[in-house]
Amino acid sequence: MRPLLEIRALGHRYPDGSHGLADCSLVLLPGSRNALLGANGSGKTTLLQHINGLLRPSSGGLLLDGRALDYSRAGLAALRRRVGLVFQNPDQQLLAATVFEDVSFGPLNLGLDAAQVRRRTVEALQAVGLADLAGRQVQQLSHGQKKRICIAGVLAMEPELLLLDEPMAGLDAAMQDELLTVLDSLSGRGVTLLLSTHDVDFAYRWADAIHLLQRGGCVASFAALALPEYSSELLAAGQPLPAVVALHRSLVERGLLAGVPVPRSLAALQAVLRTNCPKFEFEPGGDH
Ligand SMILES: Nc1ncnc2c1ncn2[C@@H]1O[C@H](COP(=O)(O)OP(=O)(O)OP(=O)(O)O)[C@@H](O)[C@H]1O
Ligand SMILES: [Mg+2]
Repeated sequence: MRPLLEIRALGHRYPDGSHGLADCSLVLLPGSRNALLGANGSGKTTLLQHINGLLRPSSGGLLLDGRALDYSRAGLAALRRRVGLVFQNPDQQLLAATVFEDVSFGPLNLGLDAAQVRRRTVEALQAVGLADLAGRQVQQLSHGQKKRICIAGVLAMEPELLLLDEPMAGLDAAMQDELLTVLDSLSGRGVTLLLSTHDVDFAYRWADAIHLLQRGGCVASFAALALPEYSSELLAAGQPLPAVVALHRSLVERGLLAGVPVPRSLAALQAVLRTNCPKFEFEPGGDH
């Protein structure tokens, strides 16, 4: 399958000389769900900001549909119609006074007529469960609510590639579940998703592909199902193993579950244990 996005040997130096990215290469397949893992400072935000053209490469480059990004004014406008970015920090993203104004800002800029702008804004606010807050002042909202407004603002653009920088951070469990529902429905409509996260358990059960960053480079890109084979790379990049992988490993070491593939969540492991080892009982936490 031809990649939607190809990142080739991307390097970025910030004006103060620090390296944001160094020789970073990866591809995103159309319609896939991708998780970007990496320690603090490994380059996740810097990479995401290159993909919608906010930052420009110091070396290497990016290809969307096989074509190099076009940094002219018109090229960037066209890019941002296709690629939406939800920032790590909502205060960097929110522009307008009220929630409705903020979410409608993008569709208005696309030159859509008033009815379409309204439809997209209302639908996006409904998708993040904030339709009731449309008239509220953005600055009066909580951090989690602001994050959801940012997500609504990007959804209203109806992008084909959606980038989310640590979208779950700061959301309570119920809102994380709602966000997952939104992501599932986007994914069902063929939208390509790339999100950064520090939650390896979530990345393992949710993603199709995982891209692991370390010191500005992508040190491994693999199918999420193959994660157990990449434990040394994950540990070297400062990432813990998902709890289900660690638990499966210790059970296999104790002679249980030999030959059973690693399930993707604790709940799935519990189901396997019920079948294979009826004497073994444990209650998983809140994962699905
Ligand atoms: N504006 C900036 N000026 C100079 N250096 C920067 C700037 N922003 C980021 N960096 C540096 O670039 C590197 C990558 O940072 P980046 O913010 O992309 O990491 P990250 O993986 O998103 O980290 P986190 O998990 O903390 O969000 C780090 O070494 C960081 O110090
Ligand atoms: Mg970051």
